[in-house]
Amino acid sequence: MQRNVTTAIATALGCLVAANPLPAADTPRAHSEDASAMTIERVSWGTVDGHPVDLYTLDNGRGLRMKVTNYGGIVVALECPDRDGRMADVVLGFDRLEDYLAGHPYFGALIGRYGNRIAAGRFVLDEREYRLATNNAPGGRPCALHGGLKGFDKVVWRAEPLREPDRIGLRLRHTSPDGDEGYPGRLDVTVHYWLTTDNTWRITYEATTDRPTPVNLTQHSYFNLAGHASGPILGHVLQIHADRFTPVDAGLIPTGELRPVDGTPMDFRRPTPIGARIDADDEQIRFGGGYDHNWVLNGPAGTLRLAAVVEEPTTGRRMEVWTTEPGLQFYSGNFLDGSNIGKGRTPYGHRTGFCLETQHFPDSPNHPEFPSTILRPGEVYRSQTEYRFRTVGP
Ligand code: GLA
Repeated sequence: MQRNVTTAIATALGCLVAANPLPAADTPRAHSEDASAMTIERVSWGTVDGHPVDLYTLDNGRGLRMKVTNYGGIVVALECPDRDGRMADVVLGFDRLEDYLAGHPYFGALIGRYGNRIAAGRFVLDEREYRLATNNAPGGRPCALHGGLKGFDKVVWRAEPLREPDRIGLRLRHTSPDGDEGYPGRLDVTVHYWLTTDNTWRITYEATTDRPTPVNLTQHSYFNLAGHASGPILGHVLQIHADRFTPVDAGLIPTGELRPVDGTPMDFRRPTPIGARIDADDEQIRFGGGYDHNWVLNGPAGTLRLAAVVEEPTTGRRMEVWTTEPGLQFYSGNFLDGSNIGKGRTPYGHRTGFCLETQHFPDSPNHPEFPSTILRPGEVYRSQTEYRFRTVGP
């Protein structure tokens, strides 16, 4: 149940507070050039483990509007215009907190401490072995996935709305105690979601620790640029700026090889429909049930660079992914099977959303040859990713 409780916040921030937080999707809207049209609203959304959970609506006044909750840092809705200015919600999700609590495949969530898989749920760090819960078993091979049984997607974050001249945002903070989900050290994490006035969703991640620990934070939104209820994403045209990928075994664990994409269904160096080769007779495609792989992004990690571009031809929506990370997991929603009933009672069927998860490579703690994911006391983990929403003509 939603209840508007906080005009106070919005007023303190100098925001406008709309009586009705969300107009129906697909309604054309006039976009103000006035930055004061940026608004943040908070409504109470329920409780988890006795902690209040809120739903924030961030509107940049220029055509980007996000609903985000401090439960799991989950992006519940993201509206942006098509080439004719028609708004649609382009991420998969649920209408109610209860639906998220009932279990789901990480729709819209912040992922940590370790996004992606760690083989057999074990790793050795500074000559000591650590064991994690194995919460996933592709091909019958157990692994630790996305931070464990209660990862960062299932905790209530401390949230604070932010407002600056050319952007509005939400600061999310979480302290993961020493030993949490088997990981060593207390980890203090701060994530910012920003909506800028040029229709960019910017995410910054920071973390510090008091003992060495692996850290690999990411965002797990499922996109469908035609609208979340538009069916399969196979017609989206994808380009990934990567000459190589990390091939996996049947358990979706990297073998350690960095394999050229040349001549494989993984070659997205030129814009290619997602569906063009998704059912190719190819071992990697078979292991993933489609695309569920990590690409080795071109260019120097640590600098913000263009990783991927997706265009949806019928609406003209275009999304660019920029990141400082070395890798990008492209997951084509192969495990979606209609059993998750999403917003507006939409059953999310096979491949009706895709994820572009910026990250370090999967299972890095067991691959010393990969870029390191180990954070040590005194260091600051920093990572930035941007999803830039644009449109292209017919
Ligand atoms: C990740 C993984 C996929 C799948 C989804 C959630 O993206 O790579 O294999 O587990 O999360 O269903």
